[in-house]
Amino acid sequence: MSNSDMEKLVDTSEEWIIERTGIKERRIADESQAASDLAYEASKIALERAGLQAEDIDLIIVATVTGDMPFPATACFLQNKLGAVNAAGFDINATCSGFLYGLYVADGLIKSGMHRKILVVGAEVLSKITDWDDRTTCVLFGDGAGAVIVGPTEEDRGILSMHINSDGRMWDLLHVPGGGSRNPASKETIDKKLHYIKMKGNETFKVAVRTLEELVVRTLEENGLDSSQLSLLIPHQANLRIIQATADRLKLPFDKVVVNLDKYGNTSAASIPIALDEAVASGRIGKGDYILLEAFGGGLTWASALIKW
Ligand code: UT7
Repeated sequence: MSNSDMEKLVDTSEEWIIERTGIKERRIADESQAASDLAYEASKIALERAGLQAEDIDLIIVATVTGDMPFPATACFLQNKLGAVNAAGFDINATCSGFLYGLYVADGLIKSGMHRKILVVGAEVLSKITDWDDRTTCVLFGDGAGAVIVGPTEEDRGILSMHINSDGRMWDLLHVPGGGSRNPASKETIDKKLHYIKMKGNETFKVAVRTLEELVVRTLEENGLDSSQLSLLIPHQANLRIIQATADRLKLPFDKVVVNLDKYGNTSAASIPIALDEAVASGRIGKGDYILLEAFGGGLTWASALIKW
């Protein structure tokens, strides 16, 4: 869906969207598709690239805020589709930081020896919780999924450190008010459009810039690394100006930053694994490279991962 398609829906312009966000297009799932359908496609590719069968997976973690149903977990739908009969599965709701929260849990479970092959997926169908009459949000979001498989290694590489944070005091900056136990779905909640994303964009923007700048610096410091040693920054794809500010804080040349929000918009928990996949596929990551992943989202939540590839 292009920016000119957006112009037909709401009072916006191609120029405004590109200048304020960097987004040119977003992908919208078919009406029949739910999060597990997208998760399934990404997971099949991950399994194939890892040379594994679905039966080899012993845990499935799906990060999503647009699960197929309130319950069961989308991880269970995905398990069923894949035939991952030896796995347990659960979902993580940490909005746009969800993939990194999932990776954090996987990292801990692998390091403790409790699991050996964990499928971590970020999958979102945000188009289904988007208010297509609200120009302040509908131009931002897209649908997508990405997946990784995490396992142990004896080699001197892998996830070096992970950092997760949240601050519930600012929950109202970005949320979906309806459909949960606070405002259960009713004719009234639907009439009031409470089941759609509500965001105080500008306030969220300011907190995101400040928080992410601090987070990336802290992540490198705690690992005794200088930003010049980083090969690639893979940020959550919410806004090009936020990404630019984070890169500037690290004095990182922009060719070391993965940006794909122009094509996909903000896909929440899916943005980082999609960007990671594109970086790997295009040869931008080599063995031994230091890569930094970071995300910020509703909750508020934020997270980072430093990986030696
Ligand atoms: O993914 C997790 C977290 N999410 C984020 O990090 C997103 C953070 N926020 C943002 O990316 C930006 O705040 C937005 C892109 C959402 C908005 O950009 P902004 O520069 O903060 O704009 P604003 O909200 O301050 O709005 C400026 C003006 C307003 O008009 P007035 O009041 O100045 O007359 C808005 O009504 O832009 C107007 N506006 C639009 N105009 C054309 C808002 N949305 C649109 C639109 N088209 N789509």
